[in-house]
Amino acid sequence: MQPLIERAPEPGGDPTVHLHTGVAGTGSGVAQPPTPWTLIGAAAVGAAVAFGLGVYGRVHQPTGAAVAPLRPDNILDVKSACASVAATLALFQLASALRLYGRFGGGRPAPAWLGPAHRWSGTVAFVVSLPAAYHCLWGLGFQDTTTRVLAHSMLGCAFYGAFAAKLLVLHSRRVPGWALPLLGSALVTLLVAIWFTSAWWYYRL
Ligand code: HEM
Repeated sequence: MQPLIERAPEPGGDPTVHLHTGVAGTGSGVAQPPTPWTLIGAAAVGAAVAFGLGVYGRVHQPTGAAVAPLRPDNILDVKSACASVAATLALFQLASALRLYGRFGGGRPAPAWLGPAHRWSGTVAFVVSLPAAYHCLWGLGFQDTTTRVLAHSMLGCAFYGAFAAKLLVLHSRRVPGWALPLLGSALVTLLVAIWFTSAWWYYRL
């Protein structure tokens, strides 16, 4: 699993410098000049994932049932808790990325634990979203009963598409430096919007 935001250029720095290690590039070999095709390919894969999930959610007959280990009597609470944890971790991702980029902190270096904390919080946010999304897709399907429900269904599908695109960008040396922060920000925004269109609604009732 990959974090929501992991690698990006230091502001005004070399776009191949690893955000947390300061090492050029993310693996072996020499950094290569950016090409639009890597980004276009990642965007195409992301769109295909999002579209595929939406089509699956639409054509699959929703079971309406709870999916083990979730039970009918706790499913709304558990899903809302998953969404809340994922959205909170996403906000931590945003704050920690800004700190690692030196956007605040008075020019002092970020603490050493912040890089690993950033990576792990992204991984956990993704993993925690899975039980909720699994039940949504399998048990409820892609629905458009109200504007909120339609928005939630679209946002859910878009999140996993953007996540797939981010994984591809993360492991490429041929993307412009702004691509990773852009995708990371999109993932944070999508998770918070998913929370607003589901758990927040549930807690308000
Ligand atoms: C993968 C695409 C997704 C689809 C198609 C989808 C679809 C739906 C639908 C149709 C509902 C019922 C809305 C209502 O009647 O109020 C729902 C509810 C909900 N979804 Fe999603 N969702 C997706 C992803 C996610 C994700 C990623 C999360 C959490 C991170 C999430 C969390 C919730 C929660 C907490 C509820 C409210 C509880 C419930 O009604 O079961 N969903 N979803």
